[in-house]
Amino acid sequence: MATLLVRSEQGTLRLQLAAGESVRECLDATDLRVRAACGGSGSCGACLVRLEQGEANPYTLAEYLKLTPDEREQGIRLACQLRPLGDAEIRLEHPAPPSLWHSIPAENLAAVQGRRPELDRHIYGVAVDLGTTHIRVALWDRKHGKRIATRRGPNPQGVFGADVLNRLDAVQRRPQRADELAGLARNAIVHAVRDILARDVGEVTPMLAEIGQVMIVGNTAMLALLSGHGGTALLEPDNWQSPIDCRPRNEPDWHTLWAMPHAEIALAAPLAGFVGSDLTADLIASELTAGPPGSLLLDVGTNTEIALWDGSTLHVTSVPGGPAFEGVGIRFGMAAEPGAICRVRPEGAAGGYLCTTIADADARGFCGSGLADAVAVLLGTGVLKPSGRFAVPPGDGFRLDPANPRSALTGGDVDAFQRAKAATAAAMAELLKLASMGWGDLQRLCVCGAFGRTLDITHAQAVGLLPPIAPERVELRADATLAGCERALLAEDGIALLAAVGSRSHAINLSQIASFDDTYIRHLRLRPVPPVE
Ligand code: FES
Repeated sequence: MATLLVRSEQGTLRLQLAAGESVRECLDATDLRVRAACGGSGSCGACLVRLEQGEANPYTLAEYLKLTPDEREQGIRLACQLRPLGDAEIRLEHPAPPSLWHSIPAENLAAVQGRRPELDRHIYGVAVDLGTTHIRVALWDRKHGKRIATRRGPNPQGVFGADVLNRLDAVQRRPQRADELAGLARNAIVHAVRDILARDVGEVTPMLAEIGQVMIVGNTAMLALLSGHGGTALLEPDNWQSPIDCRPRNEPDWHTLWAMPHAEIALAAPLAGFVGSDLTADLIASELTAGPPGSLLLDVGTNTEIALWDGSTLHVTSVPGGPAFEGVGIRFGMAAEPGAICRVRPEGAAGGYLCTTIADADARGFCGSGLADAVAVLLGTGVLKPSGRFAVPPGDGFRLDPANPRSALTGGDVDAFQRAKAATAAAMAELLKLASMGWGDLQRLCVCGAFGRTLDITHAQAVGLLPPIAPERVELRADATLAGCERALLAEDGIALLAAVGSRSHAINLSQIASFDDTYIRHLRLRPVPPVE
């Protein structure tokens, strides 16, 4: 990794640049972006930067065509063509307006195969993973099986609460908010698509008219809130077994608002009131039922969804662990973005700690996996007791890096982590019990969701978040939900594909399992998971 220092009127940014990566690719994952309208092919000439320090690849043919001799003399380059050979410094000549929508780095995307050669018109399609905290979008050329570009941005419904219960409650208190919340999510999706079209294709309105399908997966509450139905029935656990209407209300209005007159809007139906179609997408991507009996899938988030394949039945459930794994409700919690502490190690004999951050940026807080790692390491060094209490109360929080106040962990943070991990582990234990299995019967574990991207498996096992299974049998699939949605988008009948998975599943409502509360309490301590009882 080389360091790329980026200067602009908006400030200076220090980024990590992978070998062979273009400056544009590196910037597209940040808030600071270059102007662009050609997807990085070098044909629009908009992505001007000045190379101020460092060695780079020679000027390309596209740069000879788009830059004047004077500009080349001054070190002006096209960001999409510029590939530094080591540490470098650049200045953005005309930065693009800031956007909440960032490209998803290629290494965080699954390779997805499939194409629809029979399509002659409306060949483009959009896959949407509608998360509680973030929305991920991928635009595809379905005819040629080509992913054009992706975006990831915050779900703007977050202003009504970090978790689904707060948002449903907001609608229950004022039913007219159902339209407001639906509008926020709908607008966010089309903004992401327009951002892709403006920057990666160079044409917006004509391309919107060529989109033939928008395939959307998400948890049940998110789909109900997007559809405009509000979903407040989900606030009553007794309704969790009933079908929840997630079909788009006023579909013609969506076509008008999105300016996509030919798009089939496919909101993939949830499996149950508490298990969404995001889990179905995970199951498609991971092919869980093609694996051996004892295959377990976890999609870790504010609402953690779980599936267990016992060889004949696919048991599915979900558990509201709270938003701690998404960095919400943690004093210095944050999403898994540059600057998030994602790994912690003890360092030296003097009781120090080494914190690794995403993109090696300065530490700004903890993402979910960093929180799990910090708790495990502090438990291992005796700073934390298995009860979750600090051996010596740290006052304003325990700083892993004494010089950085944002590396501090408080008693409240540890408590939120314990509750989230206990709920997750207890739900897994209850599913195993229903399938007459124990931890030792597990043959495969898929951990889906951004949380899994940098998770240290042995640390997660030491604090009782993950079950005891050999690390080589654990698959970290951060990209699974979007990948499953993309596969459905490329299938001839994606909704049928999703429904076929759903028809094999048996949904378990944990609120109706009498032993769940006791199991939850048994999993609260920071220790490896106790036996399934
Ligand atoms: S020339 Fe670089 S993005 Fe168009």
